[in-house]
Amino acid sequence: MAGRIPDHFIDELLSRIDIAEVVGERVQLRRSGSNHSGLCPFHGEKTPSFTVSTEKQFYHCFGCGAHGTAIRFLMEYDRLDFREAVAQLAAIAGMEIPESARDSAPPPEQESLYSTLQRAADAYRQWLRDHPQAERAVKYLQQRGLSGEIAKQYGIGFAPPGWRNLLDKLTDRTALNRAGLIVEKEADRVYDRFRDRIIFPIRDRRGRTIAFGGRVLDQSEPKYLNSPESPVFQKGQELYGLYEVLQADRRPPDILVVEGYMDVVALAQHGVPRAVATLGTATSTRQVERLFQITGDVIFCFDGDKAGRRAAARAMENALPAMRQGRQIRFLFLPEGEDPDSLIRQEGQASFTARLQKATPLSDFLIASVSDEVDLQTMDGRARLIEKATPLLRRLPPDVYRHMLFDRLAGLARIERDYLEQVVDQQQRIKSPPDGQLDTAGTTADQPVRRTPVRLAIALLLQSPSLATQVEDLGPLHDTQSIPGLALLKQLLELSRTDPHITTSALLERFRDSEHETALWKLATWDHLVPEAGRTEEFADIMRRIANQTAQQRLTQLNERLQSGELTPEEWSEWMALKK
Ligand code: UTP
Ligand code: MN
Repeated sequence: MAGRIPDHFIDELLSRIDIAEVVGERVQLRRSGSNHSGLCPFHGEKTPSFTVSTEKQFYHCFGCGAHGTAIRFLMEYDRLDFREAVAQLAAIAGMEIPESARDSAPPPEQESLYSTLQRAADAYRQWLRDHPQAERAVKYLQQRGLSGEIAKQYGIGFAPPGWRNLLDKLTDRTALNRAGLIVEKEADRVYDRFRDRIIFPIRDRRGRTIAFGGRVLDQSEPKYLNSPESPVFQKGQELYGLYEVLQADRRPPDILVVEGYMDVVALAQHGVPRAVATLGTATSTRQVERLFQITGDVIFCFDGDKAGRRAAARAMENALPAMRQGRQIRFLFLPEGEDPDSLIRQEGQASFTARLQKATPLSDFLIASVSDEVDLQTMDGRARLIEKATPLLRRLPPDVYRHMLFDRLAGLARIERDYLEQVVDQQQRIKSPPDGQLDTAGTTADQPVRRTPVRLAIALLLQSPSLATQVEDLGPLHDTQSIPGLALLKQLLELSRTDPHITTSALLERFRDSEHETALWKLATWDHLVPEAGRTEEFADIMRRIANQTAQQRLTQLNERLQSGELTPEEWSEWMALKK
């Protein structure tokens, strides 16, 4: 198994390459000072809000909030995993990945899970071709209008009738159980989960099989059976068909979100290979964000009935935090009793595509749903409109999009836009975390950072790591648990002191996948308005203030221990020193 790529290797790598070159090879950039700017490759836009900083060695988009180091850029843009991105950059920099870390294998348990799932997928596909009872399955697929080519593209297979087909073929009970492919009732009652069903493999965006959905061939129940969640399969994160969409087009103009496996496959069959399905759950914000990394236009297709409208309302709520200028979400409501599969089969690609063009924009849908059953002619009605809209508006990130939606709603309610903003924000304030909390996660990327000494110190340090050399001694920063972010600040100081030439991007890479990642990115890009020339002094001043604050708190702690007579001799001398 491959070891971790050492941190010093990543530091060295990031100091050798120039992010502007890496990005510049893929995106057209224009130089302005030490920055470059261009059209953001991660969302559709007409005016550039994507910047690359050569000084800090990272990119940041003010439009969609995308940001990262050269490593992250390659991961997102070229769809590589971490190790692949590092390997590619290492090749540019002329560096060799250390022997111990070379192989890009996932941890052994996950690897065996992937390989079990892959072997199962192969078996199901093979059975569709050559199992003695596969004829019914093939007929069923034909009757639903699917060609062999599409079945192949989507890796569709067949689990034959019988209790132990897969068990007997793959034999490894532990592995099959971890992959959710068998059901273990008691030690001696073990059987295949999928029996006599059409099998739809669910793949991650790299094409690895991570789970299955299975459909009955007749009217029996349940109609669909899905793999349980596993270390490689979390329902709320995956989208059925995304891999296949990307195979057809790396930058599709739009992506449809539908409800069922068959809808995805039938749309591809009829010339719309751009649909994904959620796996029986409401679309999550994360899934929407993921789609927006690929396209600027997401279209939800729902049934026109009551359940469909309810599902659309849920999807809208979860999509709001992802709404920004340049991103479009639309809703297509289908005629009663139809789903995308039945509709495109009836009317063909051209008519279906024409429907897509007339889909309702999210803003219209939002306004329609909050003004439903509200009489805008009366004052009470207009007040009710605002009441209904407030929780939705609160979910929007600060952006041009939010601004325009506020304008429209204020117009409808016949109030001033500023006043509407005040009403909505007021309710929000009650819910925001108490002051002094470092944790900026959970808020959206471009909400303002609240200024606290620790945050400002971290931001200054991240943005100019060499400031750390000013701090001679970390001793005065007493360990008190009560100052949020202090431990993190110390950690950053230590990292920057051991390597004063470390870059912002290398520091950030150290925190990849850690709980602090989001907060640190925010602080690294935070415009704290401290002028360049005054940063050294400002940093020294804040560090003094933080040291004083921790000293005070430590003294209080020691005083308490003194009162209860628990002070050790070492603490006595500490107490004496602090009293001075
Ligand atoms: P539908 O019942 O709308 O089925 O379920 P469908 O996609 O139109 O399927 P066909 O056309 O009858 O073959 C939509 C989705 O809900 C989940 C599946 O993901 C399905 O694709 N579902 C449905 C289940 O997980 N289990 C079920 O029993 C039914
Ligand atoms: Mn259907």
